[in-house]
Amino acid sequence: MASTDHARTVFMAGLKNAHAMEKQALSIMQPQVNRLTHYPELSRRLEAHIAETETQIDRLDQVLTSVGESSSAMKDLFLSSFGSMAALGHITAGDEVLKNSFANLAFENYEIAAYASLISAARICGENAAVPLLEQSLEEERRMAEWVEQSIPGVTETFISLKGSGEKAKI
Ligand SMILES: [Fe+2]
Repeated sequence: MASTDHARTVFMAGLKNAHAMEKQALSIMQPQVNRLTHYPELSRRLEAHIAETETQIDRLDQVLTSVGESSSAMKDLFLSSFGSMAALGHITAGDEVLKNSFANLAFENYEIAAYASLISAARICGENAAVPLLEQSLEEERRMAEWVEQSIPGVTETFISLKGSGEKAKI
């Protein structure tokens, strides 16, 4: 197998994995939004990133179609510990806003790595048209990761002050 064939195999697998990863991103973020009544900025940013994620899925669909794959037939199995990590956040009483923020930051960084790898594979196998689309998604993930990281001290402060005031700090 020539190295471009290997690259194509890696690229195709990476595209499918990224599609499943973004679906999982939605399933991690969507349940958080409505529970964040005391964290309006976090809620708004998550909503904005849910919209971005939907666009990222559209971009991946576009690239999958251009390489002859139909995303509707895909099963979107994403095997990672993130799903269970997020689920753990939801069942653990009290500090889920903190745990979810940690999981969000971990997930955004995972996405950054996945897109960086996908872009590299796309270049090697000559799928140059996919590169700008994937770069746009990578940039959005970087901005989200940065935002989540910067939000953590403030979220922690709010969490502590709500706890002190006897409010239900977890929501
Ligand atoms: Fe993301």
